[in-house]
Amino acid sequence: MMKIFLIGFMGCGKSTLGKKLAVKLGYDFVDLDHQIEKNIGTVIGTYFAEHGEAAFRKLESETLKTFDYPANAVIATGGGTPVFFDNMDWMNANGLTLYIEMSPAALAKRLENGKEKRPLLRDLHDDALIEFIENRLTERDVFYKRAALIMPGVDLNADAMRAVILSRQ
Ligand code: S3P
Repeated sequence: MMKIFLIGFMGCGKSTLGKKLAVKLGYDFVDLDHQIEKNIGTVIGTYFAEHGEAAFRKLESETLKTFDYPANAVIATGGGTPVFFDNMDWMNANGLTLYIEMSPAALAKRLENGKEKRPLLRDLHDDALIEFIENRLTERDVFYKRAALIMPGVDLNADAMRAVILSRQ
């Protein structure tokens, strides 16, 4: 039984790399945001707008801790998941956490086209995006850095992740 939790800021590649890593390891892939959307029957942006962030964070934590995970899974978490409640402790106690680390500049470039589906970014102009990322990342990095593994996200590929993970087992 193995759970690998991919953590990191929005846009760092958790879902894209997670899917590829799952294939390479022969594990199932779980996207936490998608599971939440399945449970609530709407997209996260709509839920945020109707119920607010605090309600979303409760739901996120509940889903993280109660989801019926496949025996072996790579799990892409949301960018805020490690920051709230005891989620980071829970992930470290229940699996292997891997932080995909990326600079604000690299994240901003990758997020320019992905703002719409992310309620925290939706209303930001491009010139405000980098500042927002810098501020949030400063707050969040202390949580992210509690991951068991930290890998630089630029040019990261699933083979390199697989090698690091297998060396830990
Ligand atoms: C969030 C990140 C999103 C999603 C929600 C909030 C965040 O996930 O959970 O919009 O607080 O960073 P991604 O990291 O997959 O974009």
